[in-house]
Amino acid sequence: MSDLAIDLAVIGGTGLYRFAELQDVESHQPVTHYGAPSGPIRVGLLGGRRVAFLARHGEGHSLPPHQVNYRANLAALQALGARRVLAINTVGGITERFGPRVLACPDQLIDYTWGRISTICEEPGTEVLHVDFGEPYTRSLRQAVIAAAQSAGVALVDGGCYGATQGPRLETRAEIVRMRRDGCDLVGMTGMPEAGLARELGLDYACLAIVANWAAGAGPDPDEVITLQDVLDNVAAASAGLPALLSAV
Ligand code: HPA
Repeated sequence: MSDLAIDLAVIGGTGLYRFAELQDVESHQPVTHYGAPSGPIRVGLLGGRRVAFLARHGEGHSLPPHQVNYRANLAALQALGARRVLAINTVGGITERFGPRVLACPDQLIDYTWGRISTICEEPGTEVLHVDFGEPYTRSLRQAVIAAAQSAGVALVDGGCYGATQGPRLETRAEIVRMRRDGCDLVGMTGMPEAGLARELGLDYACLAIVANWAAGAGPDPDEVITLQDVLDNVAAASAGLPALLSAV
């Protein structure tokens, strides 16, 4: 199955369950050493390049962030021949530059998740890996994303720190105050363990964050209530430039 290389694998987050621009699509659902991925992997052509798309939460959004089999998703993409993974993550914005509908390519992250399988070194006898993770996203892939946004004329914030929370509930205002103090610009529920596992598996990995809302208490109206409809509307609006951006990557 891995005889035909995949130029880019894309993992879609909340609000991004299909990639309609892919042409000549074939579907794969490899079962990996870690189990089954979240759903079918759609492999097709985008601008003449082979792109794989996987909906992280399943195409019907049936998997909450803590139940996603992150290892199976990455291993399945790798088994199909992917070497570069662009993760699309829907997030809340914490600091000024990251308001709703902003696209960002963060360069750092802090992991607040717990109880998730966060390594491929789980089974007895597996070699213990201590991968370098000082720079959690692959520099060359980040640079490709930033250059692609420029050439496609899509506004993108270069940098920012992604704080990965457990969910599925949203955060309290106090948690967001703490995250801002810690240095987080963005908050989402799926950035980890995905990024760390990608590093352990030797995959290039970068995050394209779509800001769907101000995080709790972070916006101009501190009493604002975050609704799923606002999140989905903002993701849809901010995603308009994605096909052009992804083709350019
Ligand atoms: N917090 C965590 N995850 C999110 C948010 C948020 O405010 N918005 C979209 N995903």
